Amino acid sequence: MYLPRLIVVSNRVAIADRSDKGSAGGLAVALRGAFQTHYGLWFGWSGKITARPTSRPTIVEKDRVQYVVIDLTPRDRQEYYNGFANRALWPTMHYRVGLSDFSRADYLGYRRVNHTFASALAPFIRPGDLMWVHDYHLIPLAEELKALSVSNRIGYFHHIPWPAPEVLATLPGTTELLRSIAHYDLIGTQTERDADNLRRSLIGDLGAIPHKGGVLEVGEHHARIRSFLVGIDATEVEQFASRSGSAHVVRQTVEGLGSRRLIIGVDRLDYSKGLPERMGAYERFLLNNSDQRGRVTYLQIAPTSRSEVPEYAAVSRDVNEALGRINGSLGEPGWVPIHYVTTPYPRSVLAGLYRLASVGLVTPMRDGMNLVAKEYVAAQNPADPGVLILSKFAGAAEQLSSAVIINPNDKLEVAEAIRDALQMGQEERINRWQAMMIPVRKYDVSWWAAAFLDELA
Ligand code: ADP
Ligand code: F6P
Repeated sequence: MYLPRLIVVSNRVAIADRSDKGSAGGLAVALRGAFQTHYGLWFGWSGKITARPTSRPTIVEKDRVQYVVIDLTPRDRQEYYNGFANRALWPTMHYRVGLSDFSRADYLGYRRVNHTFASALAPFIRPGDLMWVHDYHLIPLAEELKALSVSNRIGYFHHIPWPAPEVLATLPGTTELLRSIAHYDLIGTQTERDADNLRRSLIGDLGAIPHKGGVLEVGEHHARIRSFLVGIDATEVEQFASRSGSAHVVRQTVEGLGSRRLIIGVDRLDYSKGLPERMGAYERFLLNNSDQRGRVTYLQIAPTSRSEVPEYAAVSRDVNEALGRINGSLGEPGWVPIHYVTTPYPRSVLAGLYRLASVGLVTPMRDGMNLVAKEYVAAQNPADPGVLILSKFAGAAEQLSSAVIINPNDKLEVAEAIRDALQMGQEERINRWQAMMIPVRKYDVSWWAAAFLDELA
C-alpha cells in the first residue's frame, strides 16, 4: 500500500536510540511509535541553545526517519518555551488559572518562534507530504506555513487537556490562537470532552458554523475536530515486563523490598501530576492503617522537568517537604515509607518496576491522557495483576473505567483506595485488569497514529 511521506513537527524531538535510554514525556513515547509504520521526517527543536539564531537546521538520518532540528536562542527558550507555552498556556489548559502568568513579550516570542519553525521547515516540504503538528507549543504553525504558500494537508494533535471556554478565555491571546488553530485541516484531541470544549470556544468566540462530521467553518477555513485517544505500544510493554526480572535495578528493588509490597508512581515532576497531594494521601493511609507501616513501600520516580519555570521549582520544594515530613515522622530504622528518585530509566526497567508493584498510583490533578496508567496495566502479570488507582481527571479514565477511580483532591478517598487496593482479592484484580487490557491492546499507539493519519489523508 502506498503511504505518503509523513512530516511530524513537535517542539521536542526524540531521536531514535537503540540503547532504550529513558525519555520522560508522553509525546516522545507516542511519536516514536508512529514512525514504526511511516517513513518520513521529524522536525523540531534540537534541545540546544545557541547565542545567535541559526539559519540552517541539523539533519540526522536514523531508522527510516530524517530528523531535522534547529537550535533556539536563550531569548526564544525564555519567551516561547519557559514563558508562554509553559507558564501561561500549560497552567490555563490544566485548569490552573491561578498559576498562569501572561506576559505580552512571551506571547510575541511564542509567535516569533512559530514563524522561525515554519521558515526553517518549509524548504523540506514536498507536495503530497502529510503534515502532523503536535502540541500546544505549535498552535500557530499551520497559519505560518500557509502564509509561506504551503498547501499540504496539515493536522494538529493536542496532547494536553483543552479547557472549558470560560477557562481558556481568562488567558490573553487565546482568541488569536483560536483563529490560528482553525488553519489546521484536522484537529485531534485526547478526549471527546476536550474536542467539545474546543468546538464551543470556536463557535462562541469566533462564530464558527458547525457542519456534519465534526467540521467547523471558521471564516474561510474548514477544520474537523475529533478525539483520538492516544495509546501505548502495549506489546512492547508486555514483553519488556515479562522479561525484565534480570535487570539490575529490578533485582535490586526485589531484594530491597523483601516481603514488603510495592506501591509505584512514575511521573514527570509537574504540578499537574499531583505529587505532594499523592504523598499526603499516602501519609493519611499510613496514619489510618498503622498495621501497614513497615509492610509497604511507595516508590515515586519523578524526573525533573522544566526546572527553569518557577512553578516547577516550587512543586519540587513541596515534594521534598512532604517527603521529609513523611519519612521523618513515620519512618523507622530499617523502613523508609517513600523512596523518591529523579532518574530517567530505560523503558524495559520501568516495565519491570510496574510489574513488581501491587498498586499503581496515577493521581494527576488534570492530565491530557496519562500513558503511565496504560503502561502500568500492560506490564502486569495476567495471573496476579496489581491494581491501578486512577484520577478521574486523567484522559485515561475515559477508557480505563475498571481502575479504582478517585478524586485526587480528596486525600481520604485516595488513602482508602490504597487500603482497598492492597486488600483486593485475586479474582477482582484479574477481572478489572482484563477489562482494562481490552482498550489498552486495541487502541494502542499504532491504532492512534493510523486513525489520525487516515482521517487526515
Ligand atoms: P506526560 O506526557 O505529561 O509526561 P504521560 O504519562 O502521558 O505524561 O507520559 C510520560 C511518559 O514518560 C511515559 O511513557 C513514561 O513511561 C515516561 N517516563 C516517565 N518517567 C520516566 C522515567 N523516570 N524514565 C523514563 N521514562 C519515563
Ligand atoms: O505530553 C505533554 C508534554 O508537554 C509533551 O508535549 C512533552 O513532550 C512532554 O509533556 C514533556 O515536556 P517537555 O518537552 O517540556 O519536557
